Amino acid sequence: MKIYRCQDYQEMSLVLARLLAAHIRLRPTLRLGLATGSTPEGAYAELIRMHQEEGLDFSQLTSINLDEYIGLAAEHPQSYRSFMNAKLFDHVNIKKAQTFVPSGVAEDPKAEALAYEAMISAMDGIDVQLLGLGANGHLAFNEPADSFAGPCHVVDLVQETLEANARFFASKEEVPKQAITMGLGQIMKARQLILAVSGAGKAKALQAALEGPITPQLPASILQLHSDVSVVADAEAAAGLQDF
Ligand code: GLP
Repeated sequence: MKIYRCQDYQEMSLVLARLLAAHIRLRPTLRLGLATGSTPEGAYAELIRMHQEEGLDFSQLTSINLDEYIGLAAEHPQSYRSFMNAKLFDHVNIKKAQTFVPSGVAEDPKAEALAYEAMISAMDGIDVQLLGLGANGHLAFNEPADSFAGPCHVVDLVQETLEANARFFASKEEVPKQAITMGLGQIMKARQLILAVSGAGKAKALQAALEGPITPQLPASILQLHSDVSVVADAEAAAGLQDF
């Protein structure tokens, strides 16, 4: 595991963007797993700058997002599809048909989850997967549970997640209570993982994920079993980690 300790959010965003850009330049046809949330926003902005000013080319890239709220159509301003369009896809030369986010309004969400899983497997999996971390240790929307969920599935969001994500909605009541999420099995199959973590609110979860026992009660702890994980964390998030 490589740990990039950055001073602050800005440095973390630059390091993250440079790592992602290096992967894209090395393999233009990369299948890149992407994440939503506040954490990667700065890196996405830097990738847009790299595209506009340095010609970073997204034209052959395939992107696969981790999750989507059930009940939000792609056009809904808080859908993860809208987030990705607004924060990245609309500003670079990626082909929209090559960007994948689960549908939040499929008639049968369980079938949508299975279809999403099959689609990823059919493209021979994900090369590089970017991940954020929930304050409760969740990855994508894999919440603390009694067992690790392997495939893409429908999940009931826990109270802590509803509260954490309420900041994006007019009220807590508007936060969807369910989501479709890539499972930990598919995440662990990605050839390389990049975990981005920012802020003091994540320090406890990051320390437990990297240095504590491997347990489904802290889903991100499964990363200890992956052979190629890079962690990009700012000083506040990394504060609890051992120095080594
Ligand atoms: C959401 C997303 C996760 C994300 C997490 C952290 O719950 N489903 O994929 O990693 O929030 O978000 P943030 O970066 O805003 O703290």
